[in-house]
This record gives sequence, structure tokens and C-alpha cells, in this order.
Amino acid sequence: MIAVTGATGEVGRRVVARLVEAGVPHRSVVRDASRAAPGADDVRVASDYGARDEMTAAFEGATTVFLIPAAENAERVEQHKTAVDAALAAGVGRLVYLSFLNAAPDATFTLARDHWATEEHIRATGLAWTFLRMNLYMDFIPGLVAPDGAIRGPAGDGRVSAILRDDIAAAASAVLTTDGHDGATYDLTGPSSFSLAEAAELLGARYEDETDEQAYASRESYGAPDWEIRGWVTSYQAIRDGSLDVLSPAMRDLTGRAAVSLAEHLQS
Ligand SMILES: NC(=O)c1ccc[n+]([C@@H]2O[C@H](COP(=O)([O-])OP(=O)(O)OC[C@H]3O[C@@H](n4cnc5c(N)ncnc54)[C@H](OP(=O)(O)O)[C@@H]3O)[C@@H](O)[C@H]2O)c1
Repeated sequence: MIAVTGATGEVGRRVVARLVEAGVPHRSVVRDASRAAPGADDVRVASDYGARDEMTAAFEGATTVFLIPAAENAERVEQHKTAVDAALAAGVGRLVYLSFLNAAPDATFTLARDHWATEEHIRATGLAWTFLRMNLYMDFIPGLVAPDGAIRGPAGDGRVSAILRDDIAAAASAVLTTDGHDGATYDLTGPSSFSLAEAAELLGARYEDETDEQAYASRESYGAPDWEIRGWVTSYQAIRDGSLDVLSPAMRDLTGRAAVSLAEHLQS
């Protein structure tokens, strides 16, 4: 039985829908039962990844856990570690974690460092693991256009192989429902990479490159905490330095089809 965390979210509910369709026994682990995906066989509520006993109870009886990362917050790594420890305590055999492309302790995109720390914790548990390292969501690209028709950020002419959440869910479902993935790390990327200028052109918008200083200054007024502003700005810097320009065969290898391109997505 596969326990899916974050099952009320965009990736989680898509994975659950695929497990329902495939007739695979599964459980939705959610914070709010009334928002679980329709058709879910089995729903368990746990208030937070950081609530160890609740997470352990939610994982009881599961053979595999699909751990979707928590909403970005300053305690995210600790929350993930607690959820991983809960899976271990519940006797789960396999943990599939949705990580991030080029996760590393010194990743340019600072939020990818959380994923590295989580991966390290999972590696140390002795659980069988698989890491799915997603790129930036293609779903979010249209939302980068400001009301005045410009995408602004310090991405230069760097490129990003963004991927749709729907494609991530397809790859995740394939990994969850088949064997042979223990110890594997799969990069989940789109079929091609694009610069933000190219994305802007497809969107009928324009791209205005920012310096790092301009990027921080323009986002200061949002009233967000420093870690979050750094996360936003460094996501553009990671495009600029090539960290997010990876073309991986994993999506096709796992699902038998290519991921959707930005042009296809915008035409659909
Ligand atoms: N690759 C990218 O570009 C990108 C962009 C944004 C986020 N992400 C990451 O990818 C994750 C999944 O994306 P998504 O689109 O499915 O996000 P989403 O729609 O916001 O769903 C996140 C899911 O995780 C649950 N969750 C969040 N924080 C939690 C916590 N501390 N403890 C327990 N459950 C928690 C949410 O529960 P509720 O429904 O109760 O809130 C929801 O079910 C996000 O959480 C974030 O870490 C990636």
C-alpha cells in the first residue's frame, strides 16, 4: 500500500488520481480530510510533517511512502526529517521523495539546499529510497509575467527545462507502481530548455533582465522573510548559471512518453 503525503496538493492529488485509475492500493495522508482527492480509498489525517506521532500513525501499514516536500518555510528540513523518521518508525520499506534538480549543500537555488539535507537524512536511515528531482514548475511560467507585460529577474540568457506538475505526477506514479528504482535518482525535466526571453515571447510578453541588486530591491516591498526572498531571487540566478538547464531522459524512460513542452502547454 502506497501512502501519498501532500495529497490535497497539486502534485499529490494527481498522483492519487493515477493510483485510483490503476487500481493500486493507496492512502492519502492529508492535513484536512474534507479536501482529500475524490475517490481516495483511505484517508489519514496528520496535522503536519513535524507531528511525529501523527505521521507515524498515518504511515502504519504502508509499504511505500511518497513524500511530497512541505510548503517552503524556515523549519522545512526539520519537518521533512520528522516525517522520514515517522516512516521508519511505522515500518515502511520504501520512501520516494520529491526532491529538486541539482540538490546540493551549496546549490545556487537556496531552497534546493533543503532538499539536499532531506536526501542526506533519508540516505542515512537505511530505508530503500528513490529521489525524484524536479525542476521548476512549467505551470508557474505564465505567472511570471507582471501586469505591465514584463518578466523581470536576474536570469540573464540562462535556460530552464521547466516541467509540468502533471508530468511530475506521471513519473512519480510510474516509480511508485513498479520495482527496480531503489537507490535511483531521477531528474524530472521538461523536454527542452528555454530562456525567459523565449518564454516571454511565447507568452506575448517581454523579458527585462535584472541585476542581483535590482532583483532584491524590487522584491523587498513584498514583506516576505529573507529566506523566501532569497529563494525567489536565487531561482532566477540558478537559471542564469545553468543549474536548471538539464535535459533528462527519465520522464520518457519512466512513462514511455516525452514531457510536455512549454509551447505545447501554452497551446493546450
Ligand atoms: N518545482 C517547483 O517549481 C515548485 C514550486 C512550488 C513549490 N514546490 C514544492 O513542491 C511541493 C509540491 O508542490 P504542489 O504544487 O503539489 O504544492 P501544493 O499544491 O501547495 O501542495 C502541497 C501539499 O503539501 C501539504 N503540505 C504543505 N506543507 C505541509 C506540512 N508542513 N506538513 C504536512 N503537509 C504539508 C499541503 O497540505 P495543505 O493542502 O493542507 O496545505 C498540500 O497537500 C510544494 O509543497 C513545494 O515544496 C515546487
